[in-house]
Amino acid sequence: MAANAILFITLALLNSIRISLAFDPRPLQDICVAPTLGLATTSTCKNPNLVTADDFYMTGLNRPGPFNAYGVTFTLASVATTPGFNTQGQTSLYAELAPNGIFPPHIHPRASEIIYVIEGLVEVGFVTSFPAYKYYSKVIKRGDAFIFPVGLVHTVRNVARGKSVTISSLNSQNPGIIFLPDSLYAAKPPINSSYLARASKLDENTVKDLQTKMWFA
Ligand SMILES: *[C@@H]1O[C@H](CO)[C@@H](O)[C@H](O)[C@H]1NC(C)=O
Repeated sequence: MAANAILFITLALLNSIRISLAFDPRPLQDICVAPTLGLATTSTCKNPNLVTADDFYMTGLNRPGPFNAYGVTFTLASVATTPGFNTQGQTSLYAELAPNGIFPPHIHPRASEIIYVIEGLVEVGFVTSFPAYKYYSKVIKRGDAFIFPVGLVHTVRNVARGKSVTISSLNSQNPGIIFLPDSLYAAKPPINSSYLARASKLDENTVKDLQTKMWFA
């Protein structure tokens, strides 16, 4: 094969690898400030003459509201809060976890997540796919980081005596979040309880009870 043909095929392969590794599409312009706040990519950008530094700025990340029933509270910096995030493939999350606070097992279908500990001690982990279901977990402290690979079930719980504080960075402007218990037991309309009972190896009354509980969503 001619050297040129080999080069061409190599470049074509490299290009396809680059595309398959990409998540959100690469922006086609320096900035595309969303005209309104919202998660979806908008095809129209705010008039550049009207853009200000505040479009790229968010304050109050470190002042989340009260803890929820799981003992967590968080704020997001994303295109939902800051229109300049549009097309940049990024979401940030500041979280505080009360003693025993948890994020239930969940998945981000469109992003990997790097979690940094600012304060406290947090047990983090993720589970690989069927059939291995290998659980990689670790207790991380202030100054440590851990990555949850894209699309895998992961766990976060505070194991400090006091509160813990984390910051996460996700490589999508719309990472999505699927809490596992909620998607099973809080689906609307409900998933057939006899089916769920068989699937979860629980009795049907337990499943029906779970289906009446308050979930994250
Ligand atoms: C759930 O599935 C079972 C078994 O197929 C069926 O008998 C039952 O009527 C279904 N329940 C509902 C609420 O549809």
